[in-house]
Amino acid sequence: MESRESAEEKLFSPSAARNSQPIADILCPLLKSGARVLEIGSGTGEHGEAVCLRRPDVHWTPSDPDSASRKSQAARAREISAMQMPLDLDVSRDGWSDGLAEIDNLVCCNVIHISPWATAQGLVRGATHILHPKGRIFLYGPFLEGAASAPSNLDFDASLKSRNPEWGVRPLDEVVELFAGHGFELEQRIDMPANNLSLIFKRPE
Ligand SMILES: C[S@@+](CC[C@H](N)C(=O)[O-])C[C@H]1O[C@@H](n2cnc3c(N)ncnc32)[C@H](O)[C@@H]1O
Repeated sequence: MESRESAEEKLFSPSAARNSQPIADILCPLLKSGARVLEIGSGTGEHGEAVCLRRPDVHWTPSDPDSASRKSQAARAREISAMQMPLDLDVSRDGWSDGLAEIDNLVCCNVIHISPWATAQGLVRGATHILHPKGRIFLYGPFLEGAASAPSNLDFDASLKSRNPEWGVRPLDEVVELFAGHGFELEQRIDMPANNLSLIFKRPE
């Protein structure tokens, strides 16, 4: 997990503080009026907060399998009308999307490299069940791109794998192939600060 500071139940992550506004800059224009958004692995809840403060019309539901993270998200949800109470979701578990209402957007930042590949597989499998046909999946984080990979991402990959051999910065082509296998095409790839990418997936028209 990233380094975090806390104030009461609210957690703060230095990396989320750096990334939240650039992520909100991409997400805010992407979300339609009144969009129903489910965020996976929301951590401290700061990304949702940044979007909801700028887009009070949306319905943003954070989630995380980690209870301290959910408490932090709940503390934010109590203060922000666009943010709903968090859900306990582990997308590597079969059936994680069972019983959930339809959503317009699935958002997942900095999760699939810091968990086994089964997380990415479960994420997109569940999306097929709950995402509106014209909905979008937003994925943010570091990715590998063969010889064009940023040295910092190669170092990060090695350090993740030394912590857990099932973790690792994912090759972009493998992620795109996984999503294509579930009927999603890459609509947009946006270079972000610190060698991260924003990826937007949709179903073909
Ligand atoms: C590095 S943190 C990122 C938090 C936040 N999204 C951000 O960008 O600041 C990764 C988060 O993913 C969550 N996570 C890990 N495995 C998961 C899984 N299988 N399903 C859902 N969330 C998961 C962790 O509990 C953690 O809060």
